[in-house]
Amino acid sequence: MEAISLNVEKEGDEVRICASLKPELQCSCLEHEWRIKVEGPGNVIQEWGWRARASEEAYKGLSIKWKPPTEGEYRVKAELTSHRASVERSFRMGKARIALVYYSRTGTTRKLVEKLVSELQSSEVEVSVHELKVRREYRRPLHINPRLIVETFRGVADVQIPEGFDPCAYSALVFACPIWAGKPAAPMASFLKSLAGKCPGKPVACITTSLAALDYSPRLARLAEAAGFKVVYRLNATRGTLPGATSDLVKALLQK
Ligand SMILES: Cc1cc2nc3c(=O)[nH]c(=O)nc-3n(C[C@H](O)[C@H](O)[C@H](O)COP(=O)(O)O)c2cc1C
Repeated sequence: MEAISLNVEKEGDEVRICASLKPELQCSCLEHEWRIKVEGPGNVIQEWGWRARASEEAYKGLSIKWKPPTEGEYRVKAELTSHRASVERSFRMGKARIALVYYSRTGTTRKLVEKLVSELQSSEVEVSVHELKVRREYRRPLHINPRLIVETFRGVADVQIPEGFDPCAYSALVFACPIWAGKPAAPMASFLKSLAGKCPGKPVACITTSLAALDYSPRLARLAEAAGFKVVYRLNATRGTLPGATSDLVKALLQK
C-alpha cells in the first residue's frame, strides 16, 4: 500500500495540490519530511519542502494552491521522504495537445493522417503533425529493396528525429505507419526505440496501414508499449480506410 495520496484539482487558472498521509497508515514517527515537485513545459519547475512534528497539521500533508505560469502538460511528484513513499500525477492547463507522428513511403498513411488532422482539430484539441523521414529514402522497387528488407526485420533505420520533439509535451500521441512484410515500417520502429523510457505511461494510439484486411495494429502497439507508452487505442486501416469514427480515438486519447 502506498503511504500517501495525491490529488490535483483545477480551480480556474490555478491548481490545488493536496498531498496527504493515508488515514489507514499507522506510524510512530516524531516528524515527517515532505517534498512536492512540479515539472512542466519549457522546464518550469516548482518545489515545496517542509518538515512537521507529529503535533503539527502539516505532519499529515498539505494543500497548496498554485498558478501554473503557462499552458501545457505538468507532472506533480509528492514524496514523504521519511517513509520513502512517492506518488505522481499529471495535469494539463489549456487545450489538450495531440501529436500525430507518421511515416509514409507511398502516401497512403500521409493521406490518412491528413484526414485525421482535419477531424481531430477542434476547440478543445490542438493537433501537431510530425512526418518521419529517413536520411536516405528507400528506392523502388520497394518489395525487393535489400536495405528496406533488412532494416524492417531488424526494426532499425536511419530516421531523423523531428527537431525538439518531446513526447512529454503532449497530452497524447498518435503513431501511424505502413506495414512492411508483416511488420511496422522500420523508420517508425526505430523512432519508437529512440523514445524508450522518455515518457512512461503517456497515452498513445497506434495506427497501421496495409493492403491486406488483417489487424496488424497490435504489432505497432507492442513497439509503443516496449518504449513505455500506454496504448489506449489501435486500429489497422486497410488501403488507408479508417474502420470507425475518429470520436472514439479522441475519447480514448483524452481518457474521457
Ligand atoms: C515493402 C513492402 C512490404 C509490404 N508488406 C505488406 C504486408 O506484409 N501486408 C500488407 O497488408 N501490406 C503490405 N504492404 C503494403 C503497405 O503496407 C500499404 O500499401 C501501406 O498502406 C503503404 O503505406 P504508405 O503509402 O504510407 O507508405 C507492403 C508494402 C511494401 C512497400
